Amino acid sequence: MSSEFKELIRKGDELLNRLDALPDSEAKSLAFGLLKALDAIHRRSLGRLIEELKQREGVAMIKQLAEDESVAALLEMYDLLPLDEKARAEKALETVLEYIHSHDGRLEVLGVEDGMVSLRLSGSCLTCPGSALTLNLMVESALREHMPGFKGMHIEDPSGQRTTIMARAQQAKWIPIAAADSVAPGTMRAFEVAGASVLLCNLGGKFYAYANACPGTDRPLHAGQLVQAIIFCPWHNCRFDVRTGARLMGMAGSGDLKALPISLEDGQIKLSVS
Ligand code: FES
Repeated sequence: MSSEFKELIRKGDELLNRLDALPDSEAKSLAFGLLKALDAIHRRSLGRLIEELKQREGVAMIKQLAEDESVAALLEMYDLLPLDEKARAEKALETVLEYIHSHDGRLEVLGVEDGMVSLRLSGSCLTCPGSALTLNLMVESALREHMPGFKGMHIEDPSGQRTTIMARAQQAKWIPIAAADSVAPGTMRAFEVAGASVLLCNLGGKFYAYANACPGTDRPLHAGQLVQAIIFCPWHNCRFDVRTGARLMGMAGSGDLKALPISLEDGQIKLSVS
């Protein structure tokens, strides 16, 4: 996707988020009502147009038109892109790949049957709790959004073991928290997100997020240090593995860090708050 088109989409998302944050609930409700009405008009007219083209054996023409990214994005927005279910799932998951690849992982769509998407996950992100959370939330969010009839997913690991995750009742909400380049490799920073403190760590370009609280005392960790793959708590020197959140030493029995689901999209780190 061209950077100009990405910027248009980013701007639209930003305006929607700003609208959602307005304190005037009446104005907000009117604006969202208007957007919904426009959306319904576009959905109906585009749907009719594509249906008519299909009946006139115009699928090849639709595919040709969809080679233009703006046409493809518009048709995709209204689930009108003529793709088979596997290709639709692959397209839906394009937004997840940046994060998975950044953790040296691979995600492959094996097939789709009766609303269930079969995926294979391999690579080092299998052992990363942040990636596991991302899979549970971000993969599901993307599939729910772009695949009508999505019911759940079967996730297969390299040994062939399968885990089935059914779609949850509510869509996860992702909040942009920082530009990826605002946290340098080998450092960590705290961010306030939806009233909670989040510790974002960058280990050689791989991002990990945890609740910014040392288990046992809940004191913040961000003034500590990230040395190689170890987080040193500044208060009593407890140590944690940044890749897994596991406690390495100190305050035995008080537990590991709480991993939070993050994703990386277009250079932005996003956190799921649902
Ligand atoms: S608060 Fe972290 S080691 Fe005591």
